[in-house]
Amino acid sequence: MVRQTPIDAMLAGREWFILLWRSYLGTLALYTALVGHLSLAYWSLYRRRTLRMPGWEALQLSLGLTIPLLLVWHVVGTRLAHEVAGTRDTYTLVVLSLWKLDPVAGLRQATALVIAWLHGCVGLHFWLRLRPWYARYARAIYTGFLLLPVLALLGFAEAGREITRLAEDPAFVPRVLAAAHLPSPEQRVVLGRVSRGIFWGHLGMIALVLAVRAGREHVRRRQGVRVTYPGGREVLVPAGFTILEASRLAGIPHASVCGGRGRCSTCRVRVIRGAEHLPAATAEELRVLGRVGAPAHVRLACQVRPQRDLTVVPLVPAGAGPGDAVGVGDHREGREVTIAVLFADLRGFTRLAERKLPYDVVFILNRYFEAVGGAITDVGGIVNQFTGDGVMALFGGDSGPEEGSRQAGRAAAAMVARVHELSRTLADDLATPLRLGIGIHTGATVVGRMGYATTTYLTAVGDTVHVAARLEALTKDYACDLVLSEEVAARAGLDVSDHARHELTVRNREGPLAIFVVPSAGRLAERLTVGGDRVGA
Ligand code: FES
Repeated sequence: MVRQTPIDAMLAGREWFILLWRSYLGTLALYTALVGHLSLAYWSLYRRRTLRMPGWEALQLSLGLTIPLLLVWHVVGTRLAHEVAGTRDTYTLVVLSLWKLDPVAGLRQATALVIAWLHGCVGLHFWLRLRPWYARYARAIYTGFLLLPVLALLGFAEAGREITRLAEDPAFVPRVLAAAHLPSPEQRVVLGRVSRGIFWGHLGMIALVLAVRAGREHVRRRQGVRVTYPGGREVLVPAGFTILEASRLAGIPHASVCGGRGRCSTCRVRVIRGAEHLPAATAEELRVLGRVGAPAHVRLACQVRPQRDLTVVPLVPAGAGPGDAVGVGDHREGREVTIAVLFADLRGFTRLAERKLPYDVVFILNRYFEAVGGAITDVGGIVNQFTGDGVMALFGGDSGPEEGSRQAGRAAAAMVARVHELSRTLADDLATPLRLGIGIHTGATVVGRMGYATTTYLTAVGDTVHVAARLEALTKDYACDLVLSEEVAARAGLDVSDHARHELTVRNREGPLAIFVVPSAGRLAERLTVGGDRVGA
């Protein structure tokens, strides 16, 4: 079998390359994409109100603008020379030129490859990182990002070595050049002019765009808009700046996971004053805001260009990542929803902890949190917080209070079963089995992401939460697994007619609250009904 050299492989690949890119349709697609891409780059540079931007955006923009400067010589020397002089720009000729006759051009070409690839990868990364599946395949994708240019450069180097070896034959270079139909000296002068024209034309376009921008900003600066931030900080920006650009101009940290493209929602702000003068949200902005359930007066800072003074509060911590983007969660700004709230506590754990080594306490608690946390999330609940040996969980934020109440009931049953199982596993370490006390109440709560800076978490506040905590405390008095309110039983369709019913006086509530005492929650799931039909757990 004849060994295929790198040049042979390149020549074989070139046939497909020619078929695709030198066909009428391929040429049209290639140059339309080229012109379109360049025009978009100029436009993107022009429409930015400030050149302050995150490092990755600056990198992507500057790499993109550098590519034509590096590629123009190659494109003119191959494609245009082919069109003008009928040059046969085979890979033998190209590699000979880049590797042996003009190594500076070879270095420029290799640099262009790396820069173009990096530019594409940065763009792809910041576009795709909002997709839920991206993190899962990130390692494989990064490997591909890294491997492909390395292999391409190795292939180029290997072909260069082959050409060097072939060029040891003094007849080789003249033979290749003679067969290539190189442009005549006059044609070369014209091609040189074209290359320089494109090179300086591109630099001129960038300079022109920057100059036009500067003029525009000068005019706009004279009709400034004042944006006021929390703490009273004021930023004066020209009319036409987005709120995000105002933050960037003033160096105010402001989340913008998608880089101001209106996709991620992390730049959103609550407009405290001046909302009535803002331009109406576009359908795209409304769609993104709708996905995070944003209330009135919340806008995307990267999309709004205020014309009058306004006061805003950024709603997402400046260090937000893709996990804070749309589609990942909800209730970020706080809203009132009717949900089921569950409180659980380990009975007598403080006494048990006093007799254990710290290491054992942490070990047992972590196993316990794993057991109850799994029981909650398995049925669709959200573990809101672990405090000491207690846990608070929320159900029905997305699915509604009926389903939330059923989920809370199922979670209670599963938690008791799993803690029972855990006690059996740790029987040698425990003087008495672990025992849970659980309280559940369903009602209106304010749910939102609360906290400070990067330490924020989804939680709920309001009377419903206090009532659920009180019901959990009552499990000690009644020596039972679970106390739930009548509201939970009714919404869940739970038959509790054979359980003791009590009434509780609750602050801020007209009339007493009916509650049910469930001695053993283990079989509770079997009693849950959907639409009146009894179902199993
Ligand atoms: S920065 Fe992503 S939507 Fe504004």
